[in-house]
Amino acid sequence: MKILVTGMCGYIGSHTVVELLQNNYEVVGLDNFSNSKREVLDKIKQITNKEFKFYEGDMLDKNILQTIFSENKIEAVIDFAAYKAVGESVQKPVEYYINNVSSVLNLLNVMKENDVKTLVFSSSATVYGNPEKVPIKETSKTGGTTNPYGTSKLFVEKILEDLYKSDNTWNICILRYFNPIGAHKSGLIGEEPNGIPANLVPYVTKVAKGKLEYLNVFGNDYNTKDGTGVRDYIHVVDLALGHVKAIEKLKKEKQGLYIYNLGTGTGYSVLDIINTFEKVNNIKVPYKIVERREGDIDSCYSNPEKAKKELNFTAKYTLEDMLKDAWNYEKNSH
Ligand code: WQD
Repeated sequence: MKILVTGMCGYIGSHTVVELLQNNYEVVGLDNFSNSKREVLDKIKQITNKEFKFYEGDMLDKNILQTIFSENKIEAVIDFAAYKAVGESVQKPVEYYINNVSSVLNLLNVMKENDVKTLVFSSSATVYGNPEKVPIKETSKTGGTTNPYGTSKLFVEKILEDLYKSDNTWNICILRYFNPIGAHKSGLIGEEPNGIPANLVPYVTKVAKGKLEYLNVFGNDYNTKDGTGVRDYIHVVDLALGHVKAIEKLKKEKQGLYIYNLGTGTGYSVLDIINTFEKVNNIKVPYKIVERREGDIDSCYSNPEKAKKELNFTAKYTLEDMLKDAWNYEKNSH
């Protein structure tokens, strides 16, 4: 099966392409390198020793999409391409809605024109806003999003629901990610945010490497076991394997609209992350407790039962694996 992967050189896109190639799927990639590096292409080849096609370009450019579909017999699309920094989205809402919503509308149009209706869409647990209760099920209330990033993902989910209602020959799987962390065992690909990391784990690894002086822990007065924020961290390779399972599901079903949480079902606090990172990597991570970060919530973790039952997907890596692999990547990167 030949799959178009948009945002192929990104953190989750690159790890997913590795697993797709190793499962004998054919991959055609698209990336505009707005938050990724071209060298990732060589790393993917180094890891898999497999060939794939790649186009540099932007999903807002209908021509590049049309070229890809006319030059390749695309049978399915996995759409990762989006801006994803929560804090940045509050500062730049229009850029986020143009990039995260209009680009998908462009993609859907070209897919329809080429009669390709199989799509895996990269969504996020932020569509649940501040959850009423945890663990979160797919039937939990969505909305009340606290930033334009999360709202942009919610908008696209609504667009896909309306599309499916208008034409039920579409075959769509929406995946709601919790907190992806870690890196491929090879240490060749991993999380490489531009500038100062907004997310916890890449910040921790830069402190451990001495690139940043200490970690700011954003608040310890949350309603959690130790007062610091609790999240459902999932190994990025588990997340990638979840996408392979989603493609297999769509291949089997031929049509439908499916929504799954991709998480472990276990919540860990910021202090759990720091203590576990120090233990497994035998390295100190200095930190300071500071005030809360705008838009943060106390606790967010998944009920992963539906993906287990319907996708036969269960995350297998432990928190120790995730933090060992995250550190291994940081040590390997310049
Ligand atoms: C985790 C915890 C912070 C940084 C975001 C997006 C989500 C997904 C994952 C894209 C929180 C605390 C963090 C720091 C800290 N991204 N923290 N010091 O906010 O749960 O989710 O990233 O899909 O969509 O919303 O992740 O890693 O930023 O924060 O104390 O320097 O670590 O308060 O409790 P978050 P995060």
